[in-house]
Amino acid sequence: MNNLRKSLEVNVEAVHNITVACLPLLREVNRKTVLNMSSIAGSMAHAERFMIAPDPAYKISKAALNCLTRVYALELESEGFTIFAVSPGWLRTDQGGPYADLDAETGANAMLDLLSRDRADLNGKFLNIHVPSWEKTTGLHQYDGAELPW
Ligand SMILES: *[C@@H]1O[C@H](CO)[C@@H](O)[C@H](O)[C@H]1NC(C)=O
Ligand SMILES: *[C@@H]1O[C@H](CO)[C@@H](O)[C@H](O)[C@H]1NC(C)=O
Repeated sequence: MNNLRKSLEVNVEAVHNITVACLPLLREVNRKTVLNMSSIAGSMAHAERFMIAPDPAYKISKAALNCLTRVYALELESEGFTIFAVSPGWLRTDQGGPYADLDAETGANAMLDLLSRDRADLNGKFLNIHVPSWEKTTGLHQYDGAELPW
């Protein structure tokens, strides 16, 4: 697991730095929404299921990102922020490979859809994307738009 430090830097520290840098600007606007891109692979409740995808550093960094999202969401809730984490699905990207479930555009659109909803009740949540006809598939992933367990 020699890439743990790198994963924590990219997936946790860098996200934290960017968010902190953007906070003053976000405080000026009406819709204070932050979507943190996480992964179901970082879910501790699903850890056993995802043992077939071997990348412990990635999973650990996404679990840390989830915790940061939750902690900041609670901290900034009274200022009207909506901060949540989303699992973008298994996408055909450099990381996901050619046999992944969805093309990158489908995953990106599903996340934009969540961002466009402007729903304060998403604050502090960890959500799955919703892709019609993928709600109840039998593979490793279902895309039902439901809340994911931490
Ligand atoms: C985050 O910010 C700290 C403090 O400015 C800096 O030392 C660190 O290198 C930054 N980390 C990343 C990954 O950019
Ligand atoms: C998103 O998660 C990062 C940690 O990776 C955290 O620093 C950032 O504050 C989160 N966004 C917010 C505003 O919660």
